Amino acid sequence: MISLGVGMKKVKLGILVSGRGSNLQAIIDSIEEGRLSANVAVVISDQADAYALERARAHHIPTVHVITTGYKKLRNEYDARLVHELKKYDVELVCLAGFMRIITTTLINAFPNRILNIHPSLLPAFPGLHVQKAALKHGAKFSGCTVHFVDAGMDTGPIIIQAVVPVMDNDTEDTLSARILKQEHKIYARAIQLYAEGKLRIESRRVTVTGEHQDEQQFLINP
Ligand code: GRF
Repeated sequence: MISLGVGMKKVKLGILVSGRGSNLQAIIDSIEEGRLSANVAVVISDQADAYALERARAHHIPTVHVITTGYKKLRNEYDARLVHELKKYDVELVCLAGFMRIITTTLINAFPNRILNIHPSLLPAFPGLHVQKAALKHGAKFSGCTVHFVDAGMDTGPIIIQAVVPVMDNDTEDTLSARILKQEHKIYARAIQLYAEGKLRIESRRVTVTGEHQDEQQFLINP
């Protein structure tokens, strides 16, 4: 059994982004509203024009663009650069928030059980990309989102928290994505807070949370 987290000191986050950064924004808002005992030490992007970087700057958070040119076949070396930046800012917990690169063991081993990801499906269903479209095509009646620890696989790491949303008959990829995204913005900060409070344990690949209420009568049927 591995106990994680720090027991209510502020966790220093390093957030990795590639795009619009709405999850980053939700994390920043949770911190500013006092719901999350963390601070964002640095936001790192592989894309110079990621809107997430603007969001970070607007809150006076340091930003770093790590250019990808020349690293196409050198993913480990790229990740070594990420590790260098993350260590420079003394990051404890790495949060992938729409970071569109597959990370390697170079990053994973530098932050063992200290990398989180958010994924817009109920894992292990629909890993990878374009997952809302895949859920619709499959005819799933529920979808949702998952925050998990990152391991060497694609969206395979130990699951911390999930939120479920119904799939409506008239959904499009956009409407389903929007419904899921709203829940992403709630559960990412919540997962980080559970880490900050030292409430997470991993046993084999099962994450348990101490001191949180769970309701075995909580169920959903659709339609
Ligand atoms: C989210 O749907 C997240 O689950 C996925 O990428 C998207 C990022 O959105 N990993 P944003 O950049 O946080 O707005």
